[in-house]
Amino acid sequence: MQSLLNEIYNDVKPMLGQGKVAGYIPALASVDPAQFGIAICDNAGEVTSVGEADTPFSIQSISKLFNLVMAMNHYGEGLWDRVGCEPSGLPFNSLVQLEYESGIPRNPFINAGALVVSDMNESRFASPHLAMRDFVRRLSANDSIFSNSDVADSEYEHRSRNAAMAYLMKAYHNFDNEVEDVLHNYFYNCAVEMSCKDLARSMNFLANRGHCVFSASDVLNKDETRQVNALLATSGLYDEAGRFAFKVGLPGKSGVGGGIVAVVPGRFSLCVWSPALNEMGNSVLGVAALESLTRRINWSVY
Ligand code: DON
Repeated sequence: MQSLLNEIYNDVKPMLGQGKVAGYIPALASVDPAQFGIAICDNAGEVTSVGEADTPFSIQSISKLFNLVMAMNHYGEGLWDRVGCEPSGLPFNSLVQLEYESGIPRNPFINAGALVVSDMNESRFASPHLAMRDFVRRLSANDSIFSNSDVADSEYEHRSRNAAMAYLMKAYHNFDNEVEDVLHNYFYNCAVEMSCKDLARSMNFLANRGHCVFSASDVLNKDETRQVNALLATSGLYDEAGRFAFKVGLPGKSGVGGGIVAVVPGRFSLCVWSPALNEMGNSVLGVAALESLTRRINWSVY
């Protein structure tokens, strides 16, 4: 594993400097773009890494995955009455489909979908963001994971677009709770900070048929695990999901903090992080590193 990661690092290093750090969340705009880390967690729980794999970063939309798994645990199949499982083919923060499709978001990984899932968790948990923080602590065996309130507050101040989606869904009776309360928890979830090693560990249950080796528990059953991996493969990288399937071919989820998590089912989970993004909001070096990985292991889900 170590030599594989060293080779990937060498492949992508010349690309440092390409892309732009997310500017629309002011508290994230000051992150140094010239950073790169990658960590792999095998199904025995062994972690191998290269680069800045211990540096916590803002997980942003990767939180949508944990948010979804928490809701699946509570709502089962009923969840899919309120959110679809189709790729959107549009940017993650797009509003247009919502009106055409009567307030039912295409999938749980675009912002509109994650907001509906957050609304469902709002109805279930006294404090949804603390519940998610505790959930990722258990999944990654790290009790010192926190949400960065400066980032969450900065996002809340710039919430207009997400608020517009939530109110539109409320008008279609697909949003039960107060919009401002749900947005607060959604932003606190996005502002959770984890390292590549934390995220590689926390994703491992998806490589291991739903079983988490760190908490010695089944997080999802085998069928649910397959469903989540299918959603990650078709919608985890928004309007770059097709290209990601074409070039990489793994279930994956990106965030505008520059992290991308991915799953090699039956073998290992991984996380790669580099803050500079392409125009679709995905990490430039992250996508390149995953391309290098599947080329080198000569394996993809397809
Ligand atoms: O709601 C937002 O816009 C951010 N908190 C999350 C966006 C994100 O990470 C999209 N991913 N690429």
